[in-house]
Amino acid sequence: MFAITVVVILVTVSYCNGNYERKQLLRQNLSKHYNPELLPILDSNLPLQVNVKLYVMALQGLEDKSQILTASVFWYFTWKDEIFRWDHYLEYKNITKLIVKVSDVWVPEIYIVNDVRDMSIRSTGNNIEYVIVRSNGYMAWFPAKELQTSCAVDVSKYPFDTQACTIRMETWYHDNKSFILNTIGSGIEKSEVHFVENGEWDILNLSANPFQYQDYWDNSSAYSCVHYTLILKRRSSYHLVTTAFPFLILMALNLLVVVLPTECGEKLGFCMSQFLTMIVFLTLMAQNMPSSSFTISYLTYLISLQILVSGITILIIAISIYLKSRNMDDSPSCLVRIIFSPMMYFQQNDLKKRCTRGRNSRHEGFITWLDIDKKLNCCLNILLLLNVIATVSIFVFVII
Ligand SMILES: *[C@@H]1O[C@H](CO)[C@@H](O)[C@H](O)[C@H]1NC(C)=O
Ligand SMILES: *[C@@H]1O[C@H](CO)[C@@H](O)[C@H](O)[C@H]1NC(C)=O
Ligand SMILES: *[C@@H]1O[C@H](CO)[C@@H](O)[C@H](O)[C@H]1NC(C)=O
Ligand SMILES: *[C@@H]1O[C@H](CO)[C@@H](O)[C@H](O)[C@H]1NC(C)=O
Ligand SMILES: *[C@@H]1O[C@H](CO)[C@@H](O)[C@H](O)[C@H]1NC(C)=O
Repeated sequence: MFAITVVVILVTVSYCNGNYERKQLLRQNLSKHYNPELLPILDSNLPLQVNVKLYVMALQGLEDKSQILTASVFWYFTWKDEIFRWDHYLEYKNITKLIVKVSDVWVPEIYIVNDVRDMSIRSTGNNIEYVIVRSNGYMAWFPAKELQTSCAVDVSKYPFDTQACTIRMETWYHDNKSFILNTIGSGIEKSEVHFVENGEWDILNLSANPFQYQDYWDNSSAYSCVHYTLILKRRSSYHLVTTAFPFLILMALNLLVVVLPTECGEKLGFCMSQFLTMIVFLTLMAQNMPSSSFTISYLTYLISLQILVSGITILIIAISIYLKSRNMDDSPSCLVRIIFSPMMYFQQNDLKKRCTRGRNSRHEGFITWLDIDKKLNCCLNILLLLNVIATVSIFVFVII
C-alpha cells in the first residue's frame, strides 16, 4: 500500500516537473531565435494584419474648460506571429498557450496622437503587461489605459449640446509596409462587463473609421490609423434646474418694471438689483464654460441681452424720474423737441415751424415733458416685449 502511494506521488511530481520543464524548455527555445524588435513575419512582401477592437469601460468626463475627454478603455489586439509558435502535438505535448511579458515579444507600436498626457498605448509605468500566445502563433494583447484626449467642445447650444470627440490611433513609425490596422466588427463598443455610466454625459453613438494617410515626405507609402468617434450628449436636467430655470424666473421678474409706478421710489432700486443679479449669473456661468471666443453659448448671448435691456431700463427710469421732478408746465427746449419729434409726430414734418412758434403756443397740441415721459415709458414697454419674444425664440431654437 505504502509503495503504491509513493509511486503515485512520484509519478505526479515527475509529471508536474515534466510539464514545468517542458514549458521552461519551450520558453528558452522560443526566446533563442526571437528578436522582439523585428516584425514577426517570414514573407516581408505583405504587411502584418493587426486586428483591433476598442472597449470603453467608463467615461470620466468631458471638461468644457480644458477641452479634454477622459475615458477608461482597453483594446483587444490580435495578430499572427509567424516566429513565436511551436508544435504542441509532438514536441511540447499539451502546451497550447503561454502568457509572456510584452517586452519578450513583438507588439505593434501604436500611439494615440491626440492624448495630451502620454501618447503610447504600452504602459510606461511599473505595470507589467502580458500577451497571451497560442501555439499556432495567434497573439492576444489587452492593453488598458486612461485616455485624456483633446476634444474641441462646441458649447453654442449649452446646456442642450451634443459633442463629437475623436480618439486618433496611429502607427507613428511603421508605414503600411510593416503592418496595417483592421477593425474587428464595429471597431468600438461599450464593454458589457465593465461599463459604468457617466452622470453628465450620455454616449449616443460610437464608431470607428480605419484608413491610411499619405506619408508627408514620401507619397509612395502610407500610415495606417483608426479614428474613433464618440458622440456624447449632455444630460441637461441638472443644468435645466440650476441654469435655465433661474434664468427664466429672472427674466419674468424683469417684466415687473412695467407695472411698478414711477412714483414708487423703489423702481430704480429694483431695476438696479436685477441688473446686478444678471451680471452675477453671467459670471457664475462663465466659470463652467471654455473661455474661448471660438464658440459662445447662446445662453451667454441671452444673458448679455438681458444686461443690455436692464441697463436701458435703468436709463429710461432715471430720465423718467428726472422729468417728473421738473415743473410739468415747463416746455422742453427746441433741441429736445427735435430729438423726440420723430417718436411722437410721425405725421408732421414741419419741425422748424413748431420750434419757432415759441413757448406760448404749447397748448395747441404741443409737446410737454409729461408727453416725453409717457412716450419713453411706451418705448420701454415695447423694448421689454421684444426682449421676451427674442428670448423665447432663442430658447426654442436651442432646445430643438
Ligand atoms: C527548438 O526549436 C527548434 C525549431 O523550432 C526545434 O527544431 C528544436 O528541436 C527545439 N529544441 C528543443 C530543445 O526543444
Ligand atoms: C494531453 O491532454 C489530454 C486531454 O486533456 C490527455 O488525455 C493526455 O494524457 C495529455 N497528454 C500529455 C502528454 O500530458
Ligand atoms: C453611429 O454613427 C455611424 C457613423 O456616423 C453611423 O453609420 C451609425 O448608423 C450610427 N449608429 C447609430 C446607432 O446611430
Ligand atoms: C508623389 O511625389 C512625386 C515626386 O515628388 C510627384 O511627382 C507626384 O506627383 C506625387 N504624387 C502624388 C499622388 O502626390
Ligand atoms: C500603402 O500605401 C501606398 C500609398 O498610399 C499604397 O499604394 C499601398 O497600396 C498601401 N499598401 C497597402 C497594403 O495597403
